[in-house]
Amino acid sequence: MKAINVGLLGIGTVGGGTWTVLTRNQEEITRRAGRPIRITAVADRNLDLARGLVGDTVKLTDDAFALVKDPDIDIIVELIGGYTTARQLVLEAIANGKHVVTANKALLAVHGNEIFAAAQKQGVMVAFEAAVAGGIPIIKALREGLSANRIQWIAGIINGTTNFILSEMRDKGLSFDAALKAAQQLGYAEADPTFDIEGIDAAHKATLMASIAFGIPVQFDKAYVEGITQLQAKDIRYAEQLGYRIKLLGIAKRKANGVELRVHPTLIPGKRLIANVEGAMNAVLVQGDAVGATLYYGKGAGAEPTASSVIADLVDVTRLHTADKHHRVPHLAFQPDQLTDFPILPIEEVETAYYLRMRADDKPGVLADITRILADLGISIDAMLQKEPDEGEDQTDIVLLTHVAKEKAVNAAMAKIESLDTIAGKVTRIRLEELNG
Ligand code: HSE
Repeated sequence: MKAINVGLLGIGTVGGGTWTVLTRNQEEITRRAGRPIRITAVADRNLDLARGLVGDTVKLTDDAFALVKDPDIDIIVELIGGYTTARQLVLEAIANGKHVVTANKALLAVHGNEIFAAAQKQGVMVAFEAAVAGGIPIIKALREGLSANRIQWIAGIINGTTNFILSEMRDKGLSFDAALKAAQQLGYAEADPTFDIEGIDAAHKATLMASIAFGIPVQFDKAYVEGITQLQAKDIRYAEQLGYRIKLLGIAKRKANGVELRVHPTLIPGKRLIANVEGAMNAVLVQGDAVGATLYYGKGAGAEPTASSVIADLVDVTRLHTADKHHRVPHLAFQPDQLTDFPILPIEEVETAYYLRMRADDKPGVLADITRILADLGISIDAMLQKEPDEGEDQTDIVLLTHVAKEKAVNAAMAKIESLDTIAGKVTRIRLEELNG
């Protein structure tokens, strides 16, 4: 049985995990794939580190561009990350007739349309299970397991770093800065955690899931992205008192006039299973018209969980390697000529419920002014929390939960409330999703 030869670009955390798991489970994986899958070449800038892991059993090089041209390689696994060199390497591998397996969500969310088109033309596969939610097979579920459904919405905790930070803030009453420091000390957050805490990493993943769920091109530039850096511990506390938890959600929702694609901190009812996903874990909730709600839970990062997805892709590609290239599972779940230009809606057009917190004078008529503004804009109040003013203070926090409203109307209401003499500073707004299918 001729082995399938894999060239690994990058043997860091995930690459190392891929080597380890593939070696450890070689026999089982071969029984599944139908032929052995062997890493026969590795490209890495750190040759000593690579040699330390794989020894002298495989070809080692620091020239990734040479590896993607190597005629002995069938599949390139791209694990170097980033947009620029990774894009060139992936396109070069495709041009050389190689299949590609990648964990690079940033690359696909930004350059996916170009890469999938090139792969389609060349008759090769680009597989990316590891790009979304690490070890959770969510791409497989959306693309194949749920293919009978008209998918209505997806809501995912798809960034473990931010979920860890939010859990720390809730459990220990920490500020965002203190929780971020804890995440860095434990090695969850990168030294530069921008992509995680600003919601960009989650938006890359939500972008890919939206494309597969709705059959639309990849459109990261149209996603609304808001991270957790402005979140205050007291909002987590007030949300809890109202029966909600705050999670950074990646949301993709089908509406009559387009798709909502957004990442932002979100109140969700504490009783939902997904609200209880804590620490660095990931979970994705998918609502389909036939199946109803399905929930996928697991580790969204780490060496072996992510390797689990990389290797699942290697098995898939190996099984289909010799199959008719016109009848493979399409990259974005829908046949390439069946993708639609259903628009991504601007955030002002989004409809959801809202948590609004404001600092108000504690005197008669203030609440009446606020509720009048909301009523005039057609925004209905669902619940309210008013705190006792602190000792010696004559201002207090008022928290309102609204029913579903259009973001444009809520923006107008916030501006009017902020202009009242009895309101100090800005209104804090956090979106709220019931996630009740
Ligand atoms: N940085 C990501 C996270 C893992 O914190 O979930 C890789 O996608």
